[in-house]
Amino acid sequence: MKLSLEEKASLTSGGGTWHTTAVRDVVPALTLSDGPHGIRRPRDSSTGSTGSSGDALGLRDSVPATCFPPAVALGSSWDPGLAGRVGAALAGEARALGVDVVLGPGVNIKRSPLCGRNFEYFSEDPHLTGVMGAAVVTGIQSLGVGACVKHFAVNNQETDRMRVSADVDEQTLREIYLPAFEHIVREAGPYAVMCAYNRVNGVHASRNRWLLSELLRGEWGFDGLVMSDWGAVNDRVAALEAGLDLEMPPTGTDEEIVAAVRAGRLPESVLDVAAGRVIRLAERVRARPRHDGGWSAEAHHELAREAARASAVLLKNDGVLPLAPGLRVAVLGEQARSPRYQGHGSSHVVPTRLDSALESLRTAIGVTFAPGYRLDGVPDPELEREAVETAAAADVAVLFLGLPDAAESEGFDRTTLDLPAVQIALLRRVAGACPRVVVVLSNGGVVSVAGWQEHASAVLEGWLLGQAGGAALADLLLGTHSPSGRLTETIPLRLADVPCHLHFPGSDGHVLYGEGRYVGYRHHDTLGTEVAYPFGHGLTYSRFAYSDLEVRETGTNEWLVAFTVANTGERAAQEVAQLYVAFEEEQPTRPRHTLRGFAKVGLEPGASARVRLPLTGRDLAQWSVERGGWRVDPGAFVVEIGASSRDIRLRAEVTTPGDGYLPELTGMSTLGEWLAHPVCGRVLRERLRGAPGDSEPDPALLRLALGIPLIKFRTFGLGLTAQVVDDLVAAVRTHS
Ligand code: BGC
Repeated sequence: MKLSLEEKASLTSGGGTWHTTAVRDVVPALTLSDGPHGIRRPRDSSTGSTGSSGDALGLRDSVPATCFPPAVALGSSWDPGLAGRVGAALAGEARALGVDVVLGPGVNIKRSPLCGRNFEYFSEDPHLTGVMGAAVVTGIQSLGVGACVKHFAVNNQETDRMRVSADVDEQTLREIYLPAFEHIVREAGPYAVMCAYNRVNGVHASRNRWLLSELLRGEWGFDGLVMSDWGAVNDRVAALEAGLDLEMPPTGTDEEIVAAVRAGRLPESVLDVAAGRVIRLAERVRARPRHDGGWSAEAHHELAREAARASAVLLKNDGVLPLAPGLRVAVLGEQARSPRYQGHGSSHVVPTRLDSALESLRTAIGVTFAPGYRLDGVPDPELEREAVETAAAADVAVLFLGLPDAAESEGFDRTTLDLPAVQIALLRRVAGACPRVVVVLSNGGVVSVAGWQEHASAVLEGWLLGQAGGAALADLLLGTHSPSGRLTETIPLRLADVPCHLHFPGSDGHVLYGEGRYVGYRHHDTLGTEVAYPFGHGLTYSRFAYSDLEVRETGTNEWLVAFTVANTGERAAQEVAQLYVAFEEEQPTRPRHTLRGFAKVGLEPGASARVRLPLTGRDLAQWSVERGGWRVDPGAFVVEIGASSRDIRLRAEVTTPGDGYLPELTGMSTLGEWLAHPVCGRVLRERLRGAPGDSEPDPALLRLALGIPLIKFRTFGLGLTAQVVDDLVAAVRTHS
């Protein structure tokens, strides 16, 4: 098919806010829609005109669709199978609504609990994020709808998001901020990737050739399309040259692209490649099997309820939960009646229906209710008094607390982890009036529990659970199902304990990722910082025992880890068994341990299951800046199996031969590096031994000498002649 220059230029920019451009009858326009936890198809999506509402993006007025649990919740399920089913359901609705590409999942790492958009992301851990994200992509694409993984990359805050430069060293990038994208690209083959708004080390992601071309396509083999985040392109020629194929939404600059090609400022071949990728995306989604366009709102609501149930995390329980039959239960808190179930911004979905926990509990067991506080945080003594009275007449008070809409959203970051003061004041008074208080939380980003949780007999973290969250919470409170969510992020005791605290959200257009690889539990567990609740934590209504850990070598740097999990309690429940790889160093040179595998296992009381998880060299590797690649050092490591990062039940020490990498030596390598080198070290030692008048080196002098570059011994001597030094340096030069 022969396209004119103008047609090719038009393909690399949207045809409207939510469409790609059609070219004659040869390339159809594709419809793109947010994402990530429900289809947000604006009612008037044809033109993107603001009309009288001023809402060009159609944030408030979209066609009803199922609001599944946002990623903060779905991630907490630790259940990729479930995430895949949610992805497939999203695709079913997408097809019915004529949507070709879903703008999700969002897989940025939760660097700080303050990020206003954390509700759209899975975890502080890259492995968990990658596995959950890949499952969603595979689910979406199983029906031939494209997934668009976002925001590539290092988009970990909302403050100044369109300009800020995330200044981060390469090892941290490779080990923390890129692996989830890499895993998803390699394992799930997303049709599209969306670039981030921010700059990465000074260069906007939308024109970052290293990110978009060298890494994404070159190293990882991505074969799909890269589109911009909405409005992320500042220089379209530079963006095209860097590897960005599609600018969204259009800025009316096609003529400039044509002129740039004609003036020789943009090679036409670059445009050919980008336009070709838009055409290929169209071919991919249009090649999908036919679909009757039907989906059942009821079945999807049920799936949303199942996912919500799997996602809430029981933080604390003295035995009050599940609520025993026959108790007088008071439900308190405006959020029980007016649930907060999703976050604000581009992901906001108009739900097909909405369950409230109050209605669900009322129907099931007939409860009393008082709202207790106003959502706007203005103190209301009358509401508080009524709630305390209602609590006093009950055996158990179930108090719904949480962040109001205005507290967290896309577009800005929080400045505190605290719940609204009126809510904490209410909890204190309710606890004084009723012997047992169960707190149910609704929040997209982590909230502090310090200073109030001692007033609660149980705390159920309900995140933002989607449209069926209310019914799901009732299922868990009443014990028709056991909680099975686990924390995907640490709950710190204090904001100041967050590793990036002194480097968030930056200033003067830069945010320094000064904490490096020490994000979340990688920081807390290395330093042994006290936390409120650790990564991976979550209780249930049963107990689990772990036994019989076996680590079998299946190849070079390949192992199969197997262990048994048994339900030793009285109820059916699910356990999330976690595998960490640990390096025990007195003076840490890397995070103490990192999550490398997990399995969610459902067991009846008395039943047990054997869990098998693979482990590879990459799981042990660190990024080596010197090598420009991954490196596995020889030596011992520990396989840890546990129920959280702080609850390790089984351990096995294993040894790896390393990956055979020999660091390159030069004259500027230190004596210590030379001596540590498996080949050159031997030669050097022989030379040292053979030196005339040689006697045992003074240990203090040797320690001092270890840090000195070899070449300096030409003048320092210390047992090495200039000739020996020159010979050694010449020998490694010839070999490299
Ligand atoms: C968000 C994206 C979203 C896009 C379209 C942007 O502001 O960052 O996540 O997909 O808008 O709504």
